[in-house]
Amino acid sequence: RKPLIPYEEIGAEKLSELIDLFYEKVAVHPDLYPIFPKDLTETARKQKQFQTQYLGGPNLYTEEHGHPMMKARHMPFPISPVQAEAWLACMAEAMDEVGLEGKFRETYYKRLVLTAHHMVNRSGEEK
Ligand code: HEM
Repeated sequence: RKPLIPYEEIGAEKLSELIDLFYEKVAVHPDLYPIFPKDLTETARKQKQFQTQYLGGPNLYTEEHGHPMMKARHMPFPISPVQAEAWLACMAEAMDEVGLEGKFRETYYKRLVLTAHHMVNRSGEEK
């Protein structure tokens, strides 16, 4: 039987590998690295906490940082559709490399597409 909670299906270890791989890609992506800190250790740690609760696991992010308010927390960073697509491309590659597949991957990725588009806060046409 498949677990009902996505977090249980992926497991803490694979989720951690996914996020580490994801930030290795972010760190070298031309449309992303300029807006991220140079040292992504703390970013990855927070993202693991966030994804844990996003996938129905324990509320690790909220326990340490309070209400996620993800759109508000992203406002200081210029995110146009270009950055959203870049973010998703890094995630898709990381998912391939960690071996996520099937219905689980499809559902998880689709949710991330919606969330990433929700984070867009610039048109990308400003000078
Ligand atoms: C933090 C960019 C989408 C979750 C950040 C930071 C940047 C960023 C620059 C700050 C990093 C730091 O200071 O440590 C982007 C871009 C996105 C995107 C360009 C493209 C759409 C997402 C999505 C999610 C997400 C889809 C969740 C599904 C987070 C979390 C943090 C974060 C949990 C840490 C917040 C904190 O400091 O407490 N993001 N992000 N981001 N992002 Fe994103």
